[in-house]
Amino acid sequence: MKYKNFYIENYGCQMNISDSDIITSILLNHGFILSENLDKANIILLNACSIREKAELTLKKRLEQLKFCKKNKKIWIGIIGCFSKEIKNFFCKKKMVDFFVPPDSYREIPNFIYYSIMGMQYLSYIKKRNETYADISFVNVKTKQNNKKITSFLSITRGCNNMCTFCIVPFTRGRERSSDPDSIIKECKRLYKNGYKEVTLLGQNVDSYLWIEEKNMNQNQKNVVDFSKLLDLLAKEIPMMRIRFSTSNPHDMSNKVLEVISKHKNICKHIHLPVQSGSNKILKLMNRKYTREEYLFLVQQIKNIIPECSISHDIISGFCNENEQDHQDTINLMNEIKYNYGYMFSYSPRPGTYAYRKLKDNVPQHIKKKRLQEIIDLQRKHSFYRMQEYLGRVEEVLIEGESKKNNQYWYGRNTQNLIVVFPKKFFNIGDYAYVKIKNTTSATLIGELCI
Ligand code: 5AD
Ligand code: SF4
Repeated sequence: MKYKNFYIENYGCQMNISDSDIITSILLNHGFILSENLDKANIILLNACSIREKAELTLKKRLEQLKFCKKNKKIWIGIIGCFSKEIKNFFCKKKMVDFFVPPDSYREIPNFIYYSIMGMQYLSYIKKRNETYADISFVNVKTKQNNKKITSFLSITRGCNNMCTFCIVPFTRGRERSSDPDSIIKECKRLYKNGYKEVTLLGQNVDSYLWIEEKNMNQNQKNVVDFSKLLDLLAKEIPMMRIRFSTSNPHDMSNKVLEVISKHKNICKHIHLPVQSGSNKILKLMNRKYTREEYLFLVQQIKNIIPECSISHDIISGFCNENEQDHQDTINLMNEIKYNYGYMFSYSPRPGTYAYRKLKDNVPQHIKKKRLQEIIDLQRKHSFYRMQEYLGRVEEVLIEGESKKNNQYWYGRNTQNLIVVFPKKFFNIGDYAYVKIKNTTSATLIGELCI
């Protein structure tokens, strides 16, 4: 085959990065070649995200640029991943994209490419609603700076059953399904053998991970693995591997999970716990299935069981019917918790979701913007406050690479997922170093090696 060099660009979350790894593995197994840069590639795959309007706008802009490349060279452009019906229709009308591969059809991606090269449309009739890609092993790919990669993502659940009213994910990624625990353990062991030191278990809602296996049909015996058991198994099987996970849904997080995190040193002490809003009225409209009080209670439980745990959040500002009091409820909740860090967004209605169909996007743009800025500014203050707690402490840091700002510094993270930089000496990527924290910004701990 003449045209077999492919290049992937990511426009989404960690789940998209993990999907790109799956696709890379599938294509390499079919004789395709991964290109380090766009110029060498004939097949360009854009891994899309529809979760917020902004990600779609970025993708539209990127496609406008690629249109020019298409004029000078034989290239085929495919959109993969988390795309909505609307964006697919938009690109189809504009004739900018050659093929679309939804998340459950990655195994057939070679066919999509072959047909496209022949000028035909590949129609996939196999709808694999229970696809988990559990048997696909990742390939070792170097980072852009040619650094050895020592951290990896691994999806343990796909899809989501939660139906938060603002969210497109249940429509783009389908119903929730969990991967077989044996395949997860096998893949983590393989990663460790190949030099990976940290794995992040991914799912829209990892706490609802569930695997039920009939052990002995006659005696009605079942092997049930929930998220706490999976974590426990992994921590014991690969004691030298750091284990992270994301995302936790406050509604499903149990004390059992917290106990397991606390029990094992190699399970990192960080929980990403999206709250979305501090107002009960808004949480109800969002169909989040927990109240502000229940969320605060859970945070207290985390602090009781894992005192050193860091907590991060997602917050959406300006959701339908949000008034000034609702916004203040969010501000007050943030003040009460003082999160280590967070991801903050202004609400954008996504076609197809309940909120888009049934609720009014009635918070004016300038107010959404003002509230979001207040939330961002407050988070920056809290992040700085939390970072100060580390001054003078010695942190165990897994070195991931050179600092982007200064190549004389190493860059890594501590168990709380906080970024630590320190002057390069002795160590290498993948080593653990003990670093005494001397200074901080709101996003970075700056330290020196303890020898
Ligand atoms: N508008 C703004 N933010 C959204 N998110 C999901 N859907 C939307 C939307 N329509 C945010 C949520 C979620 C994170 C991944 O993206 O905070 O937790
Ligand atoms: Fe979307 Fe809610 Fe599922 Fe998260 S839990 S992916 S916000 S529907």
